[in-house]
Amino acid sequence: MKHQRILVLGGGGFIGHYVVDRLVARVASVVIPTRRRDRIKELILLPTAEVIEADVHDPVTLGRLVADCDAVINLVGILHGNYPPAASASYGSQFLQAHVELPRRIVAACERYGVRRLLHMSALGADPKGPSMYLRSKGDGERAAQASSLVETTVLRPSVVFGREDRFLNLFAHMARWLPVLAVGRAGTRFQPVWVADVASAIVNALDSVETYGRTYELCGPRIYTLRELVKFAARASGHPRPVLGLPDLLAKLMAWVFEHLPGGPVMSRDNLDSLKIDSVASRQPYWPAPELGIRPTPMEPEAVLYLAGLHPRTRFSGYRARARR
Ligand SMILES: NC(=O)c1ccc[n+]([C@@H]2O[C@H](COP(=O)([O-])OP(=O)(O)OC[C@H]3O[C@@H](n4cnc5c(N)ncnc54)[C@H](OP(=O)(O)O)[C@@H]3O)[C@@H](O)[C@H]2O)c1
Repeated sequence: MKHQRILVLGGGGFIGHYVVDRLVARVASVVIPTRRRDRIKELILLPTAEVIEADVHDPVTLGRLVADCDAVINLVGILHGNYPPAASASYGSQFLQAHVELPRRIVAACERYGVRRLLHMSALGADPKGPSMYLRSKGDGERAAQASSLVETTVLRPSVVFGREDRFLNLFAHMARWLPVLAVGRAGTRFQPVWVADVASAIVNALDSVETYGRTYELCGPRIYTLRELVKFAARASGHPRPVLGLPDLLAKLMAWVFEHLPGGPVMSRDNLDSLKIDSVASRQPYWPAPELGIRPTPMEPEAVLYLAGLHPRTRFSGYRARARR
């Protein structure tokens, strides 16, 4: 590959693991900053990967990391953030920091140290005027990532991403284990789930592709599902088929508020519900990814059935390990 020293911000996350896994075999060095090195020990063992505990919001630290590479992949993102103190603000400080200020600082560091290539992960529906804090901050983040004429930026906008470690289908599968009925708000919202391995391949293929410079790509799977269909599918595939109840807005908001305040952090939030006001599907149907991304969208079934049913070899072994407390 042309780019050989890659900084992967957010490389320790769900999608990041797959991106790093593909990069280590192809480039000289992959640097993964994280807030907690001990949480991603498995990446430390990979050849050419360097996991560094760092505060990427500190401009000096970020500058040092950027100066040492020839391309940056930004995968940092949060699903839940605090609400702004004033209703007139578009989002709270956590979304601002993770989705807007960080890309702004990355671009400034790239300009300063002559790094010309940036891949920025956004989300389908990102829009400064979008219906949720998540989507508005992602929209402003895209603009920040594309603001420099000195940096060749590619923006990627996936629909919901599925894979063995996802927190979407797995969440509903987990709920189905304990609840006799599953209740969701905005059950008719449509998604076009995309496989995590396809997302990672698209990112890695785009890295050296001049055609992708300055462009924004939607990343979707081959089929559209409503939220109700996805929840039903996750429950059935995990061996706990359940009826799915669509909640009216007021009840859904109340439920989201309760989920927001669960001990151990929010599972779902009122802001997530606001994101569901718009569909998360490709703007053109049928969806076909641009050829330069080099992917063929993988259908959700039967791939997701394997891990939701615990049939994926790695899922099975982690189950045995958990039972043996290892
Ligand atoms: N998963 C999906 O369905 C989906 C759909 C559309 C868009 N996306 C976008 O894709 C990107 C990756 O998603 P993911 O599912 O892989 O997320 P993830 O598993 O939650 O990983 C997010 C990564 O961001 C880092 N991070 C989170 N908050 C941070 C903060 N305040 N400061 C610094 N680093 C922080 C984490 O680093 P640590 O190692 O320090 O914890 C983690 O590695 C995100 O931008 C997300 O919005 C995801």
